[in-house]
This record gives sequence, structure tokens and C-alpha cells, in this order.
Amino acid sequence: MMEKSILVTGGAGYIGSHTVLQLLLGGYKTVVVDNLDNASEVSLKRVKDLAGEFGSNLSFHQVGLSCLIFN
Ligand SMILES: NC(=O)c1ccc[n+]([C@@H]2O[C@H](COP(=O)([O-])OP(=O)(O)OC[C@H]3O[C@@H](n4cnc5c(N)ncnc54)[C@H](O)[C@@H]3O)[C@@H](O)[C@H]2O)c1
Repeated sequence: MMEKSILVTGGAGYIGSHTVLQLLLGGYKTVVVDNLDNASEVSLKRVKDLAGEFGSNLSFHQVGLSCLIFN
């Protein structure tokens, strides 16, 4: 069976970290991208702990995202 994976941008923040926990508990491999401008990696450590056996399915990359809008 194909593994379920999902990318969460801003995943260390308030809404993101709660979402990431639910995704992990739902069996998703979860990749978080966050620049940590308004969050700490500590929140992801807590999420990992709360996810128990699923915690190892979380990976984190400290990366800033930008958006280009073409009219
Ligand atoms: N305890 C509470 O009830 C509580 C606590 C915090 C926030 N809130 C509410 O939640 C809402 C905000 O939550 P949120 O999750 O949307 O915001 P957030 O700031 O918590 O999360 C956004 C995340 O995106 C990251 N980020 C921002 N720009 C980025 C970029 N260019 N590239 C990569 N990462 C980037 C930030 O570092 C942060 O971790 C507000 O309405 C606030 O009032 C409630």
C-alpha cells in the first residue's frame, strides 16, 4: 500500500502544530516546513511526544517560504 504523506507549511505554529498532531495520529507521514519566525521547535518536540508511536513519522525543515503572484 502507498504511504500517506503530507506537507504542512507553518506547521510549528498554533494551528499547524495542532493539525500536525492529528495527521500523525491519523497515520500520515508528516513533513513540516517552518521558518520559526513565530514559533519554536519545542512545539514540534511536544507534538512528537504526544503522537507516541507515530512521532517518528514527523520530520521538520527550517525553511522560509515566499510567494510570487503574477497578474
Ligand atoms: N492559545 C490560543 O488560543 C492561541 C495561541 C496562539 C494563536 N492563537 C490564534 O491563532 C491564530 C494564529 O495561528 P496561526 O497558526 O495561523 O499562526 P502562527 O503564527 O502560530 O503560525 C504560523 C507559522 O508559520 C510560520 N511562518 C510564517 N511565515 C513563514 C514563511 N514565510 N515561511 C515559513 N514559515 C512561516 C511561523 O513561524 C509560524 O510557526 C490567531 O487567530 C491567533 O489569535 C490562539
